[in-house]
Formats: sequence, structure tokens, C-alpha cells
Amino acid sequence: MFKKPMASYMKVNYTKQDEIENMITQRLPSWQAVIEQQNSDEFRTTIYDLFQQDPNRAASFSVRCGEIFLDFSKSHLTQDLLSLFVDVASEAQLQKKIDALFTGQKVNNTERRAALHTLLRTSKKSSLYPLSNSVKNYQEQIFQCHKKMRHIADDIHQKRWLGHTGKPITHIINIGIGGSDLGPRMVCEALADYKIDSLSVLFVANVDAAEFITKTQNLKSETTLFIVASKTFTTLETITNANLARQWLLDNGCIPSKLKHHFIATTTNTEQAINFGIDPDNIMPMWDWVGGRYSLWSAIGLPIALAIGWDNFLELLSGAEEMDQHFATAEPSQNMPVIMAFITLWYSQIWQVNNQAVLPYSHNLRSFPMFLQQLDMESLGKSVNRNGEILDHHSGISLWGTEESNAQHSFHQLLIQGSYLIPIDFIAVIKPQHNNLEQHQLLLSSCLSQSQAMMQGKDPLTSKHEWINKGATHEEAEQMAKHTAIAGNKSSNTILLQQLSPATLGALIALYEHKVFTLGALLDINPFDQWSVELGKQLGSQVNQSLTDGNQPDHWDSSTKQLAQMISNGKLK
Ligand code: F6P
Repeated sequence: MFKKPMASYMKVNYTKQDEIENMITQRLPSWQAVIEQQNSDEFRTTIYDLFQQDPNRAASFSVRCGEIFLDFSKSHLTQDLLSLFVDVASEAQLQKKIDALFTGQKVNNTERRAALHTLLRTSKKSSLYPLSNSVKNYQEQIFQCHKKMRHIADDIHQKRWLGHTGKPITHIINIGIGGSDLGPRMVCEALADYKIDSLSVLFVANVDAAEFITKTQNLKSETTLFIVASKTFTTLETITNANLARQWLLDNGCIPSKLKHHFIATTTNTEQAINFGIDPDNIMPMWDWVGGRYSLWSAIGLPIALAIGWDNFLELLSGAEEMDQHFATAEPSQNMPVIMAFITLWYSQIWQVNNQAVLPYSHNLRSFPMFLQQLDMESLGKSVNRNGEILDHHSGISLWGTEESNAQHSFHQLLIQGSYLIPIDFIAVIKPQHNNLEQHQLLLSSCLSQSQAMMQGKDPLTSKHEWINKGATHEEAEQMAKHTAIAGNKSSNTILLQQLSPATLGALIALYEHKVFTLGALLDINPFDQWSVELGKQLGSQVNQSLTDGNQPDHWDSSTKQLAQMISNGKLK
């Protein structure tokens, strides 16, 4: 495979393969031209040099959608490469696939389902796509669901929903995991400035009881309401924690007949929820045409509506809808999610990069990378195409990141000077929700300077002069410059939000949802299933059985046997 030159001053060092005939090329002959870009002069040009060659590069390589701005000029994308990607998208019939997504066709082919999360945020007045009767029927169900969500939210906010002693609810605990946790949890945290004061919304996901115990330790059962959020109502972690919640209520003074005042459920599995003891009036609908990781827009988002109020929840939806419309109508070369997918495809397929980082320069967006991990990695972590044929190229790559500027004092060393290329999405907000503008400016300076440092680096000569200016001898300076020179040529996108509002956050989430969809479409994989989770569930129940009865099946590997033995014995051997 190709080894990309690290910087202009380093010797170009790569082994060239003239032809990489893989499944992408077989399916999309125009992909060959993308591969051949590796033979071009442009391919050897550093990002820094691209800026030197074109003073208008920043303007040409950025795009705006409403209150979100994407600057992708600090990547290796050139106009030539962009137009090659546009050819690939056209050959892959991307627009047709987008239309199929929005009109409710069964894009989730392995589960024979639509993936209509966009419908959840389509306002009545929107006329982007004519809706079939079945989709109109879904839309009616959504409006009914919204009515119910709003009614519940109003009852709680207006203190009409009373707990077992007749007192109003002050604390909500959402019990859910994966898509039934990460989205609502992240949004509530990100929009903390919009929070309704009289209510605290907490989240419990982990089957580790420590989370439940910590979250409930200062709460009173009479003022606490649990939402059991589970599309299937069979997820081990969620059902176990829901049982724990019921026991906690009983242990803390709630009589069985009053339990129903303390539970709401959101699920497709009404029967199981009723069996659990949830009042049918308190069960919110979910539908098989909404994927777990795309479900925060549905009643799974009830904790959001409770935390920030109904109007702000609608704002979140409308921001996402604005991004939907952009995605469905903008030309690929001007289409924010599509461009981001092109960039990821370029680095993952051609540069063989297998990592990307998402770095929010925002305390409130600290959980955004964690939310994206499920969205991106559960969607794109596949080894077969839509027909089940084994891929001969990579699909999803690792995504990680954390709150900034903290990580500058942690792992940025590797991002800036390490030998791997890890493309980055920097996310920053122009206008903060607080009025400490001085510190906010420091935060934004850090963001900009990091992307600049990664892109331009520092050449050995400059480094050497700096050491000489500090009094080093020529020999010392030469030696030290080997360590302090920085190769640069590290790619990043910068996403700027005007402010962190419900609407911009909605648009930001939709941006990444559509980026993931585009990658799925171009790589010919289904981003809406997650079959591997089933294997974990099957094995998990066998292991649990073994830990209960102390018997380890003969066919188990010796490692699992050894570990299970120690756990069963309650001590290390
Ligand atoms: O981890 C697999 C998964 O199915 C996710 O896709 C989903 O978001 C999560 O489990 C929770 O599932 P449920 O909402 O059915 O409890």
C-alpha cells in the first residue's frame, strides 16, 4: 500500500501500485480515477503548499448550511479530486439512494425496513418529497406521538404529574442503552443552558449497578420518575436496571399500586412493557422504521423535551430538518455531509487511515464523540456488502475524541508529531452561552492554532534558528531541530457553529447521520443493521449461566474457562 510523504521537506517515500482492482472499482469504474490521483503531482503536494498555490483556497473549500459552516480547506482535497468524487457519487447513484432514504424505501435491506428518522423531523409544511400513503400514515402516528409527548411534558412541567405521596416530579431517570441513551444524554448535556430549572434529567445505562446506585443515592422515590427507553424492551442492561428501579421504589416507600406513577416506557414492544407493569397510557410508541442510533428524534427523545421544554425540542427537530433539506437538494460538490464523506473515503481507502478524531472545543459538547461512536461505528463497522459478499477493502474506521482544549495536554502530541495520520474534525462555537468572552476567545484560539500546527508544522531550518536564537551552538541546534521540527501535512475539517442552540445541534447531528449514510451508499454497505450485537447477547447469557451454576462448557477456550473459574470462586488463583 501507499505510504504518503509526511511533509514537503521529507523525501517522498512510497511504493506505487499502478492498479488496485477492488470491489469499489468493479462496481464503480470511476473509482479508478480516484486511485490514479496517487500518480498526480497534486498527490505529492502538502496542504501547506496547496494554500500557497491558491490564496482563495479557504473560500473555495468551505460550505455553509444555515448556522453551520464547514471549512475543509485544511485537507488534501483539490478541485480535481472533488470532481472525481462527484463522478463516483453519480455513478453510485447517490441521489437516488438519498431519495430512497427520504421516501421510506426499505434501505435497511437485511432487516427489510425503512430508515425514516428524517420523517420524525419533517414538518407538516415541508414539501421536499411527495409522501406515499404508508409514509403519510407514519407521519400521522408521529404527530399523535408528539401530542402525547407534549402532554406528558406539560403535565410534569406544570407539576400535575404526581408521585406516590402526591408530590410533583423533580427528577427523571432515563433507563436505556446505546441509541436509547447516548443521543438523549448527549443532547441534554449539550443544551444544559436551555434546561428547565425545576427538573433534573439523569441517565442510567450501565448494567454495573454502581451507576444506578450513584445516580439515585440522593433522590427521593416520591419525586423520581423513570423512563424505560428500549425499542425492543428485551435489552439485558435496560430490563435489569428497570427491575432495579422498581425494587428501589418499593424499598423506598412506594406501594405496588402506585408504581405506575413512576414509570413511562418508550418501545415497540407494548406487550412486554405492560407485562413489566407500565400503565398502557404511559407507553410511548416506537417503530421498526427508526433505527436505535437514529432515534433521539422520536419519543426516545422524551428526556430531551423534559429537560429543555417542548418548543426547544421542536427547534432541535427543525435544525435537523434544515440539514436534511440541504443534504437532499445540494449538489454533491456543495453538499456538507457528502463532502465530509468524500474526505473520509479518501483517507480511509487511499491513505489506508483507520482512525479519525472528533474534537469539540466546547465543554457542553463533551459527549458528542461518544454519541458519534455509535452512530458511525455501529453503522459502518461491516465486513460484507449489501449482498453479503465479503469486502476486499475497509469499511468503517475508529472514531474517538474528547472535550477540548483538555486533550491538547494529553494526546495531541501523537496527533501532531506521531507517525500516523489521524484526520480530525474540530468543532467550535462562535458565540458562547456565557459571557466570559475572554476565556471563550482563548478556547477558540486553541482550536485554530491546533489545526494550523497540524497542517503547517515547523520545518527543521526554522527550528534550528529558534535554538540558535536561544543560545545553542550550531551542532546543538541541528540536533535539537530533529526533535522540534514538525512534519505538518495533517488533515482536518473545522466545523463552526454560530452558537450551540437546539437548532444548530439538530443540524450538527443530522450532518453526521447523513455523512454516515453517504459512506454506506458509496461503499455499498448497509449502515442500518448491527448483527454482531446478537452474538454478544447469545454468548453473554451462556456465560451468565456458567457464572451462576459454576459449570463451564467443555468446548470453551481455556482463557474464558480460567477467567470464569476465578470469578465463580470470587478470587484470583
Ligand atoms: O447495541 C445494539 C442496539 O441494538 C443498538 O443499536 C440500540 O440502540 C441498543 O442496542 C438498545 O436497544 P433497545 O433500544 O432495543 O434497548
